[in-house]
Amino acid sequence: MLSAEDNERLTRTGAGTPMGELFRRFWVPVLLAREIPEPDCPPVRVTVLGEQLLAFRDSQNRIGLVEPTCPHRGANLFFGRNEECGIRCAYHGWKFDVSGRCVELPTMARDEGLRSRVGLTAYPAVEWGELIWGYLGPPEHRPELPEMDFALVPPSHRFVSKKLQQCNWAQACEGALDTAHFSFLHTPLSIPEVPPSARGKVLANALRWMVEDPMPVFNVVEHEAGLLLAASRRADGDDLYWRVTQFLMPNHSLAPGSGPGDTYFGQTWVPIDDRSCWVYVYSWNPDRPLTDKESRFIPGVPSVHAEVDEHWVPIRNRSNDYLIDREAQRTTSFTGIVGISEQDAAIQDSQGFIVDRTREHLGPTDLGIVRFRRLVLDASCALERGTEPRAAAAPHAYRVRSGGAVAPSCQTPTEMLTARFGSDTGLVVDADR
Ligand code: FES
Ligand SMILES: [Fe+2]
Repeated sequence: MLSAEDNERLTRTGAGTPMGELFRRFWVPVLLAREIPEPDCPPVRVTVLGEQLLAFRDSQNRIGLVEPTCPHRGANLFFGRNEECGIRCAYHGWKFDVSGRCVELPTMARDEGLRSRVGLTAYPAVEWGELIWGYLGPPEHRPELPEMDFALVPPSHRFVSKKLQQCNWAQACEGALDTAHFSFLHTPLSIPEVPPSARGKVLANALRWMVEDPMPVFNVVEHEAGLLLAASRRADGDDLYWRVTQFLMPNHSLAPGSGPGDTYFGQTWVPIDDRSCWVYVYSWNPDRPLTDKESRFIPGVPSVHAEVDEHWVPIRNRSNDYLIDREAQRTTSFTGIVGISEQDAAIQDSQGFIVDRTREHLGPTDLGIVRFRRLVLDASCALERGTEPRAAAAPHAYRVRSGGAVAPSCQTPTEMLTARFGSDTGLVVDADR
């Protein structure tokens, strides 16, 4: 459990809060790149870390992330015209560029002094891995972009999507760091036969192993970018089934299910405010282009991508109890809710908009989330004392992978990790990059 003070610290991310300041030392995704698909396309409203902003792509493909309020008389620039390298207010024509500078003041054309004084708060924004990333922190501490594996592969090897989640960012992120829940939340009531196409795979029996052993044993390795969480369950014979998750500061997680050569999955939780967040979801394959099935959401295919409407709101959400089917829950699946992403969202949202961590009873299978909390809370305290987060200065340390492995129980965690990833932190040692 956490004290009420630490729960407050962990979950509040507005400007001036300790965790909000920690987030503001990192680039955070604010949109999918395809939400502003081409130069001079319509601007898009963005709310991130409690700040209301406007994003637009100018005529030269530069990205603006600016406050939306016109300094003339407060009209919202969302209704403005995105034209010739700037956004022009629809009320009286004042115009601003991507840096927030006022470039035209047609109602007071001769007042150069005023033009140079009025401007919009603007944050740096760039496209990286088909996401638009923004940096909301102090300019002198702006880091390099994190060199995440999904962003480094060719576009044909990657699929990104997003989904609204209606709870605080931290409890949603904790769901991804908690591999123990897979023995329950996502399981069918009877384990299906391993299909012939999967019989040769090392992880073909993973679902059965997770159901048979609900008490994964955690080994945690701290590295420059975050934490590697390796959890072992009993497999067949003398083997262990390992699920290795990555947490990357301050809000990314790479999922533990993929075997060698499989497509990988990851998610990034970006607070909208303290009661909701956008989850950016990416699948990528370092070795080959994604198949058609892997490059879009397909109902019935297990995935962390959600089925969403045109506003990225999941079809199964808080307002409709995730379309839980009690008959299916009685006969077929543990939850009666369709979709891995939806099962996660339902149970994480059910903890409350902000879960009360003072009332928890944690055990050994909660070690991953305990270490996550400690890492980010300590980093926020250190930042208050003037120590910058080391992960922000280590973009190269984000080149890590997660995934599953089967290994003899006599192997140490270090031996297993080195055999699976080539290093004991999951760092990709790849001469091509
Ligand atoms: S309110 Fe924007 S130009 Fe007047
Ligand atoms: Fe899950």
